[in-house]
Amino acid sequence: MYTTLITTLVDGIFTITINRPEKLNALNATVFLELDKAIDEVYNTAGIKSAIVTGTGTKAFVAGADITEFDGLSKEQAMALSKTGQDVFFKIENSKKPIVAAVNGFALGGGCELAMACHFRLASDNAKFGQPEVNLGLIPGYGGTQRLTQLVGKGKSMELQMTAALVDASEALRLGLINHIATPENLLEKTIEILKVIQSKAPIAIGKVIECINTAVVNETGKSGYNKEVQAFGDCFATEDMKEGTTAFLEKRKANFIGK
Ligand code: COA
Repeated sequence: MYTTLITTLVDGIFTITINRPEKLNALNATVFLELDKAIDEVYNTAGIKSAIVTGTGTKAFVAGADITEFDGLSKEQAMALSKTGQDVFFKIENSKKPIVAAVNGFALGGGCELAMACHFRLASDNAKFGQPEVNLGLIPGYGGTQRLTQLVGKGKSMELQMTAALVDASEALRLGLINHIATPENLLEKTIEILKVIQSKAPIAIGKVIECINTAVVNETGKSGYNKEVQAFGDCFATEDMKEGTTAFLEKRKANFIGK
């Protein structure tokens, strides 16, 4: 049914596994389309009580947006891409059924943003988180400027997004970016254990908890922050530095930025 996702339903828990291991599970247009459909399944299937988002393998959860798809995009096309990504991630965030990320390796760029859109996160001890878009002459475009700030605070969010530094699982735990660390072998087991506790509670009450907590962080100011991000992401696509940054990544060399 899906070409880039593997889905399973066991004991009411719907596991969505992003499955492009040869590209470290990078988010291309097909992944976004299919993720959107899979989240619709969560919304509309009575037998699904909760969901897990994870990636194939032990190296990467998701290593970001698929950089090869950035090539040649106009500012307007980039803004549309950002808006589409934001909308899929809003759908995850606003689900009344719990959706938890099991982060099994690199969660970079769009991968970190996907994990942050989930209601909370567990990670394996080899996981690494980051918003390294400035290495590409870019900024996060799928809500990362907003959600990382909500989760770790303004100062740390500024530093991480300006330096492109990666944080390991123990630092992510200390920062509040994740709730638990497990071994790669036990990550799904630990995630399922928590979801089974949640599934034993009143589902309508769980949905209301999600709604109220989201309202605490996504207020009107928050919404304008997301709109600002779409605009700013698009602006970056009109720069020479973005072309240099993405070309340098694909040519496996260091970028030489000029500030234009
Ligand atoms: N988009 C497209 N392709 C990606 C990708 C991405 N975000 N991340 C990794 N890949 C591809 C690589 O190009 C490579 O493909 P190839 O084998 O055809 O050359 C393959 O996945 C394996 O990645 P590679 O870079 O060789 O692995 P590594 O172990 O040396 O490094 C990372 C792992 C995660 C540090 C590195 O892949 C990376 O920095 N990825 C991009 C992270 C990023 O900037 N994300 C934000 C995007 S907005």
